[in-house]
Amino acid sequence: MAIIAPSLLAANFLELSNECEMLNKSEADWFHLDVMDGRFVPNISFGPMIIEFIRKATTKTCDVHLMIEEPEKYAEEFKKAGADILTVHIEACRHLHRNIQQIKALGMKAGVALNPHTPVAGLADILHEIDLVCLMSVNPGFGGQKFIPFTLEKIKQLRKMITERGLNVHIEIDGGVTLENAQSILYAGADVLVAGSTVFKAPDPIGMIHQLKKL
Ligand code: DX5
Ligand code: ZN
Repeated sequence: MAIIAPSLLAANFLELSNECEMLNKSEADWFHLDVMDGRFVPNISFGPMIIEFIRKATTKTCDVHLMIEEPEKYAEEFKKAGADILTVHIEACRHLHRNIQQIKALGMKAGVALNPHTPVAGLADILHEIDLVCLMSVNPGFGGQKFIPFTLEKIKQLRKMITERGLNVHIEIDGGVTLENAQSILYAGADVLVAGSTVFKAPDPIGMIHQLKKL
């Protein structure tokens, strides 16, 4: 069964406590938390301070997606804020191996995110060191964008790499996931679905999470 990770980027922040309660009651597995710095991506979202509050509002896994430059400067702060999984972008890490060791040494699971244009082949020598690959299916920076179809091919390639090596690495798809395309994403080999707008803009978010979970 797929892991469902609603992205709080699409939540109503004036109602953050209620939004967290809703996710707690739902079949959502992880809280996906999108951190943007206005440099790596053309948008600014929230940082460790907000995550610290969210951490207190849930016992579910906090899956923190860093869309920031120099993530190594902040890894410790995100650990303190309560991150369980810390994902950095391959495009933002000149010393990816070191960054991953740092995240793991801090006691978090390590994820690597790839922009749509970045080939999965770039993970060949690091795959055995990581817990999760986040394949971006939109250009990061904003919620509510349209799924880029060629991502499906990347999922298949990555699943093949993981299976051939007998590894246990999550494949997370992030961006433009809907009830309509989720099945083909899972069929291609992903096991974690991030969904922002699809969950939070639905008339019945708990029902929507249930539908995604059922696939
Ligand atoms: C995009 C973020 C996503 C975003 C997904 O930069 O990384 O997690 O919140 O939002 P939707 O599901 O609306 O595309
Ligand atoms: Zn994300």
